[in-house]
Order: sequence, then C-alpha cells, then structure tokens
Amino acid sequence: MILKVRNCRFITFEGYRDVRGWLVAFESLKNVPFKIKRVYTISNVAHGVTRGKHAHVHLEQLIVCISGSCNFLLDDGKNKEVTVLNTPQIGLYIGAYIWREMFDFSQGCILMVLASELHDAGDYIYDYEKFLEIIKR
Ligand code: TYD
Repeated sequence: MILKVRNCRFITFEGYRDVRGWLVAFESLKNVPFKIKRVYTISNVAHGVTRGKHAHVHLEQLIVCISGSCNFLLDDGKNKEVTVLNTPQIGLYIGAYIWREMFDFSQGCILMVLASELHDAGDYIYDYEKFLEIIKR
C-alpha cells in the first residue's frame, strides 16, 4: 500500500518463515534505509491511550509492530492518513517533519522503533500549530 503522506512509506521484510516460526532481520542501510543508532520499544500501553503527538526535525524512524496491532495517524501538514501495523513483516518508515499519533494499541502490542539518531529532546516539535507554521515555511 502506498501512503499519500509525504516522507512516509511501508517497507516489507521478507523474513524466513517455516514450520518453526518466523524470523525477520533488520539491517542498517540494507533493508533499513538509514544507519540505526538507537532501538527502543513501546509496550504495555493501556486501552484508550494515545502516544506520540509530535514531529521530529531530523530523526528518521522505522516502526515495526512485533506483536499485536496499533493504529497510526500520519500528518505532513497537508495530508492526513490513518494506517495500521499488525505484523513484524511490514515496517512503517517515518521521515522528518511528520506529525504522528499512535492509538488503539491492542492488548500485548509491542512496537519496536529503529531510529537514525540518539535521543535528542531538542529534535521534537510538540506543538501542532507550531508544526503547521514550520511546514508552511
Ligand atoms: P515520548 O517521546 O513521550 O514517547 P511517545 O512518543 O511514544 O509518546 O517518550 C517518553 C519518555 O521517554 C520521555 O521522557 C523521553 C524518554 N525517551 C528517552 O529517554 N529515550 C528515547 O529514546 C525515547 C524515544 C524516549
């Protein structure tokens, strides 16, 4: 599926599936389009909680739902789109200047986030109006 929000796309990971189960590998600059500097997980999210609600100035991320499912709102300031991640075989690439919200986490949902930079609080845009202003420039 092609996303209409700019700077976002799905990446399919073929992986190895056999009678023993699934194995999916993520490799910097091979099937992940940036050098991975950080990996973090989001789990144990209670019913009804929305996370994210920010954009990044420089950061690139690849989000993989390794268990359960989660909905994403993606917004580039012009187009908004809601999509779902529910398999470790499809990752969601999110580039810079994309507002994102994660919601409707299923019970047991685990997100793994591969990131192009170390954590930097200064890279976040938390104010949606400010995000829209920056995008217009
Ligand atoms: P936050 O960005 O609010 O999570 P989300 O976007 O999923 O809603 O992060 C929660 C807290 O974790 C916040 O205090 C920042 C901290 N944090 C780190 O220290 N390192 C990290 O790599 C990340 C992603 C967050």
